[in-house]
Amino acid sequence: MIKFENVNKNLGGKRILKDINLHIKKGELFALVGPSGTGKSVLLRHIIGLHNPTSGKVIVDNMDIAKLSKFKLEKYRANCGVLFQSGALLNWMTVEDNVALPLIEKTKLSAKEITEKSDEALDMLGLLDDRYKMPSEISGGMKKRVGLARAIVTNPDIILYDEPTSGLDPIMSRKIDELILSLKEKLNITSVVVTHDMQTALTISDRVAMINQGEIIEVSTPKDFLNTNNKTVQAFTKAYGQFSI
Ligand SMILES: Nc1ncnc2c1ncn2[C@@H]1O[C@H](COP(=O)(O)OP(=O)(O)OP(=O)(O)O)[C@@H](O)[C@H]1O
Ligand SMILES: [Mg+2]
Repeated sequence: MIKFENVNKNLGGKRILKDINLHIKKGELFALVGPSGTGKSVLLRHIIGLHNPTSGKVIVDNMDIAKLSKFKLEKYRANCGVLFQSGALLNWMTVEDNVALPLIEKTKLSAKEITEKSDEALDMLGLLDDRYKMPSEISGGMKKRVGLARAIVTNPDIILYDEPTSGLDPIMSRKIDELILSLKEKLNITSVVVTHDMQTALTISDRVAMINQGEIIEVSTPKDFLNTNNKTVQAFTKAYGQFSI
């Protein structure tokens, strides 16, 4: 479904992604881990055409993303939910309006339906009572959850999560894990989760990839990931403590 074929990306004169080859299957929950500054967010942005490869191709459903017309790219993006690492809420809109935004922009639903769907997504994330607040009135973790509500509100086929649990307490983090998993199971969504949270990566994903200095150095099931012989992967996992899955 989502294929990276020999993708290289240069940014600011530096080679950020090096010969990336990946094949993420339809309905798969794919986790991407790796040290900070190693290219995870840059890789994720390629999936929705916010970056195009310097060489190589990103193919989604047989479409070469870099070659799509503006119109087709917009149509494709309407089917992707994205949780940006920063949350990316609009400060001048209420929580509810932030969540409603993709529905207003990408669908022809009535105002009543839009409010209903937005409130349903907010309710799933425990934020219904906060819907009339402004982003400046809620905590960082709440902003993250509003971003998540906005990512799922359109019922997309693909959801990209950039650090869905960072800044959340462990209880909320596990709730978000459950939500990501339940969306995948209910709706057969293809999910790509970039995360520093090894608990998330190892407990909810079908496969985990590790990227290090722009290179994919491991792609395996969580179990094989924990038992790998790759020393860099071992050191990375160990730094996060003990895991049992
Ligand atoms: N638009 C850009 N222009 C120039 N360099 C960039 C740009 N975006 C990212 N980079 C560089 O690419 C490298 C990888 O960045 P990226 O944001 O993908 O890291 P990351 O793995 O997501 O890190 P983190 O875990 O901290 O979020 C970094 O060195 C970063 O400075
Ligand atoms: Mg990042």
